[in-house]
Amino acid sequence: MYREVTDKLKALTTLLEISKEVASMKELGYVLQLIVDKAKEIMDVEVCSLRLLDEDGDTLRIRASVGLSEEFVKKVSKIKVGQGINGNVVKEGKPIAISNVLEDKRYLSTIAAQKEGIISQLSVPIALKEKIIGTLTIYKNIEHVFMQEEINLLSTFAAECAVAIENTRLYENLNKSYFETIQTLALTIEARDPYTKGHSDRVTQYALDIAKVMGLSEAEITTIRYAGKLHDIGKIAIKDDILSKQGPLTTAERAEVKLHSDKGAQILGPLEFMKGISTFIRGHHERFDGGGYPDGIKQEEIPLIARILSVADSYDAMTSDRPYRKGMEQNIAVVELEKNSGSQFDPDIVNAFIKVLGNK
Ligand SMILES: [Fe+2]
Repeated sequence: MYREVTDKLKALTTLLEISKEVASMKELGYVLQLIVDKAKEIMDVEVCSLRLLDEDGDTLRIRASVGLSEEFVKKVSKIKVGQGINGNVVKEGKPIAISNVLEDKRYLSTIAAQKEGIISQLSVPIALKEKIIGTLTIYKNIEHVFMQEEINLLSTFAAECAVAIENTRLYENLNKSYFETIQTLALTIEARDPYTKGHSDRVTQYALDIAKVMGLSEAEITTIRYAGKLHDIGKIAIKDDILSKQGPLTTAERAEVKLHSDKGAQILGPLEFMKGISTFIRGHHERFDGGGYPDGIKQEEIPLIARILSVADSYDAMTSDRPYRKGMEQNIAVVELEKNSGSQFDPDIVNAFIKVLGNK
């Protein structure tokens, strides 16, 4: 009794930890890895794997594991529903416990399991209400008869994990369709101004290259991917005749174009997960010496990603052809960057970018 209560408590605490992670909008891969790591802890085993059904509803694939060799995962990763132990768990919708895999006819990869040191295993369905979305499996390197409590504990844990997985997927889909919408908008700007075609893509690529050289985190790199694509989104709000004007702009027209970084931030700002990105878009025309717009902030007051975008954006503007002038050669644009390093641009970023260009 006491053990049962403590086990449940342990599982509950773990679930709380997982839901906290999900609430902070992590990627699916991260959540799945967290689940196998926690299952291992709760069930007191060394080896665990998680399979999810593909979209076809017929193929099960290992999506996260702990304690299994890469070779084994590769060998057994893909199975059909109704095949092997996990395929039968999905087909029957209930757990399967095996005390010795060598003695179970349903077991597909006996030789691989032997090599891996797997003797017993317990697989439970991961189900959302009635719908099975995958399986969770723990393995042991000794013959072991799984007790009903162990089966219940892993099943309860798997059921809760199903919710976490589904929420993460929903969030990812939402994120994806939102990003696709925004990307379409970004393409609309480019369509209005054919001379900037490909500009956002190139700026994104330069900014990503700089970020890698500077050792930015994975999360920052993802942010740059979005911010780079969308940095000129505010141009949607600028009148067509100004945007496509051939030849120099008047002072008033230039002032209107300058509004685009602020407008872009206003478009994205209300969306919860674009909040961070909107700050970088707002700041992509700030200057390191404080002479930029819209806020006239300087140096480290300008967010790092905005400073990176500024260098990438300016370099692409200099090297691209325009109707009224030809783009600069790379070496001349680099001289320009160096000349404006410390005034318009952050010197560290200019140095990083020169390194990037040197490697090309
Ligand atoms: Fe811009």
